[in-house]
Amino acid sequence: MKPLRIALTKGRLEKDTVALFEKIGYDCTAIKNKGRKLILPVGNNQFAVVLAKAADVITYVEHGVCDLGVVGKDTIMENGTSFYEVLDLGFGKCRFALAAPKGKKFYEGYHAKTIATKYPNVARSFFESKAMDVQIIKIEGSVELAPLLGLSDGIVDIVETGSTLRENGLEVVEDVCDISARLIVNTASLKLRKAEIQALIEEIERAKA
Ligand code: PRP
Repeated sequence: MKPLRIALTKGRLEKDTVALFEKIGYDCTAIKNKGRKLILPVGNNQFAVVLAKAADVITYVEHGVCDLGVVGKDTIMENGTSFYEVLDLGFGKCRFALAAPKGKKFYEGYHAKTIATKYPNVARSFFESKAMDVQIIKIEGSVELAPLLGLSDGIVDIVETGSTLRENGLEVVEDVCDISARLIVNTASLKLRKAEIQALIEEIERAKA
């Protein structure tokens, strides 16, 4: 049988995932020396890691071309859930927050607020839960710019250390929710390759304990 394929979010979650695999005892030399290669064997070809952007990790797992995925809860919340989310991996910890220019009382006044965000679905459901009518503008990166340029009253974005907000004269108005890396599994794979996947989940659980 083909080795299990795990889609792994490139960048921030990559190092922690490799550290976790190494803790279990899998040889990750191929990932560490990957160059520009995107599909890498792990261990003695026990499984293959596919390096992808966060939203694409979900696409590959949903379509079943990857059996498992490592992706942030932020991307899961924004992009849907037609897969199993089986484990909180405990790294990649940060939070979603509503932020606005320092000292501005965001909730004051009666005009409909404008919110810039990379996560329109997350922002929409946050304000829906408050029954607040807002206009949402999708931004692709460095969302902190939008209120500074006068495009929006606030942002809904990821806050990790808080330094991007601080250095740009913004502050958290309210936390939305906590985020961390999750292990997700394709629904068919979980049935068809249950024993292998269950064994891997148990190894990960033991390693992160
Ligand atoms: C994320 C996020 C914030 C920043 C928060 O951006 O969108 O801008 O990190 O981190 P901090 O609280 O530690 O400062 P990222 O670096 O992923 O870049 P992007 O905004 O261009 O997507």
